[in-house]
Amino acid sequence: MSNFNIAWIPGDCIGREVMPAAETILEAVAHKYDVSFNYSRYAWGTDHYFANGRMIPEDAIEQLRPHDAILLGAIGHPKVQDNVTLNGLLLPIRRSFDQYVCERPSKLYAGVESPLKGYEAGSIDLVVVRENTEGEYAQIGGFLYPNLPAETAVQTSVFTRHGCERIIRHAFELATKRNGKKLVTSITKSNAQGYSMVLWDRSFDKVREEFPEIETESLLVDAAAMNFVRRPGSFDVVVGSNLFGDILSDLAAIITGSMGLAPSSNVDPTRNGPSMFEPVHGSAPDIAGKGIANPLAMILSAQMMLEFFGLREAANDVEAAVAKVLAEGQAMPHDLGGSAGTEEVANAVASALQSE
Ligand code: NAD
Ligand code: IPM
Ligand code: MN
Repeated sequence: MSNFNIAWIPGDCIGREVMPAAETILEAVAHKYDVSFNYSRYAWGTDHYFANGRMIPEDAIEQLRPHDAILLGAIGHPKVQDNVTLNGLLLPIRRSFDQYVCERPSKLYAGVESPLKGYEAGSIDLVVVRENTEGEYAQIGGFLYPNLPAETAVQTSVFTRHGCERIIRHAFELATKRNGKKLVTSITKSNAQGYSMVLWDRSFDKVREEFPEIETESLLVDAAAMNFVRRPGSFDVVVGSNLFGDILSDLAAIITGSMGLAPSSNVDPTRNGPSMFEPVHGSAPDIAGKGIANPLAMILSAQMMLEFFGLREAANDVEAAVAKVLAEGQAMPHDLGGSAGTEEVANAVASALQSE
């Protein structure tokens, strides 16, 4: 029997409510297939910050390193500035383990209504591939004359050819493997950003030569936002910088139903260190404590982890179980117009999995 060691970080607010749903599903997987999971549970997040003045202990990265993967709920608390919490936990993990690939699939499932008119199940099926370690998130900058009238902030983006080429190459490899339109869309803004985005465009032009069987298009990010609404069914793999990928993946989530359905992976394909799996959504303080958070984004993130582990049959079955629950509509979460709570939705997926 194979065993996987998972670092377990529920985090804040609804992160703590949706993580048990992932455990329900992983235990159902362990029951059904020849696999087991060990969890190292870390109570890191804003409570840790209140108690210790930091989000994670000093040796946190070393504690995480030996794991096969990290599963994370969400981070963010209304009482602490987001820049402190996110730069104190989530972003250092992505960078420390060089998790340069962030995959964010969005699919319109049967039983889910898009806010866009006239889209049938399966007619929107795209994945945003987001550069995850540099770009606009490089955290290079500073304040001059802080808190004075002349206060000045400088925040520098960092784009390297190495960083651009490797994420673009990953997008092409994914388009090759996916059962999709064999199309990679590059997101750019080189009409205004004449250095970073020009390097992005040059890297895209170079890498696409390696994949003559894949079609390409290049869109300015503003036009891409419009086209996600106007022709969402035309996309397959969409590759963008850290910030552009962040914004477009929320848009992709909502046009396919809800933030509550959108999973993500943060992967180092070289497998030097652990990769991390987490929902696209945040800690949603507006609904925390009510037991109504949709756990499906979390469950589908665990599903992406199973696929990463090479547990293909289990991964396919978990996705099929989620699809069945949505299609049947008996345990529909609140954000999708139903009245089922977090636990009820998770239990419905677990029993659908048993009958797969
Ligand atoms: P959010 O994703 O938390 O919430 C946006 C909206 O979507 C809210 O109305 C929320 O109720 C709804 N929503 C999100 N997830 C849902 C779910 N599973 N089920 C039902 N509804 C859901 O984004 P926000 O409000 O901009 O951010 C809240 C906090 O989370 C902030 O502190 C932010 O910095 C943080 N954040 C963290 C992560 C992360 O940890 N990966 C991601 C995004 C935002
Ligand atoms: C996400 C989040 C994070 C990001 C924030 C919370 C720093 O929005 O994972 O999409 O921008 O990467
Ligand atoms: Mn985001």
